Amino acid sequence: MSITIEAVTAGYGGPSVLRDVSLHVAENEWVGILGPNGAGKSTLMKVIAGLHPPASGTVTVEGATPRDHGRRRMAQLVAYLPQDPFFPESMTAGEYVLLGRAPHIGYFAVEGPRDIAVATEVLELLDAAHLARRHLGDISGGERQRVVLARALAQEPEVLLLDEPTTALDIGHQVAALEMIGSIRKDRPVTIVAAMHDLSLAGQFTDRLVLLAQGRIVASGTAREVLTPDLIREHYNTEVAIVDVPGDGIAVVPKRNG
Ligand SMILES: Nc1ncnc2c1ncn2[C@@H]1O[C@H](COP(=O)(O)OP(=O)(O)OP(=O)(O)O)[C@@H](O)[C@H]1O
Ligand SMILES: [Mg+2]
Repeated sequence: MSITIEAVTAGYGGPSVLRDVSLHVAENEWVGILGPNGAGKSTLMKVIAGLHPPASGTVTVEGATPRDHGRRRMAQLVAYLPQDPFFPESMTAGEYVLLGRAPHIGYFAVEGPRDIAVATEVLELLDAAHLARRHLGDISGGERQRVVLARALAQEPEVLLLDEPTTALDIGHQVAALEMIGSIRKDRPVTIVAAMHDLSLAGQFTDRLVLLAQGRIVASGTAREVLTPDLIREHYNTEVAIVDVPGDGIAVVPKRNG
């Protein structure tokens, strides 16, 4: 399903946090949203998810607004992983991942064998099966992040909105999780928008990068087009070197300023 954002302006009552943002994400495309702290990435994700109404402009998923789709249909179509998810501490990881199946289960029904199979499979693929019986309050930050990601993937959504899905993960689990996110598109089309801070990984894994700064899209394109020392200096206020990684694109390496 494609996503079309047209001239969206949004905020929280004060000055606009998103200003005239337009973006089209094609079906099965993975777009990485970059930008410094406070640029508006999370706000954009919430607007796309239909959780924060824009002051003006429109967001449509496959041509229809969240209101047209209806809440239940949106919950089936779109999985949204917030930057700071709420964790019921006494819930087990297994129970939490099964909540991802809720939009597919009838109102008074319980989960069936397929729901349990899907939840088990994503936990295994994210190296989190051993956590299924542990309480969310008793596992590490990175373990919890893998469980939250597992919940979003267990939903089998057509649109996946990920707000910094791998920030708490070690480098091995980061790459594994991003590979897994990309690979779900082999079986069926999934449109992905992910806010990411790791510029190198964003460049390696996404199809296209969009750089947000002060609520506006200031660059959009391939990794080589967006990850330039000039754009990074201008918007992140730091010096970087761009290094070729043979066979794998480029890496962004920070330089010490002093
Ligand atoms: N609930 C809120 N009420 C008021 N202002 C908010 C709220 N949420 C975010 N903001 C403000 O909106 C701006 C954009 O915030 P947003 O969370 O979208 O940024 P971000 O790009 O996701 O940043 P980060 O990289 O730190 O996650 C910031 O200036 C922030 O202070
Ligand atoms: Mg954010």
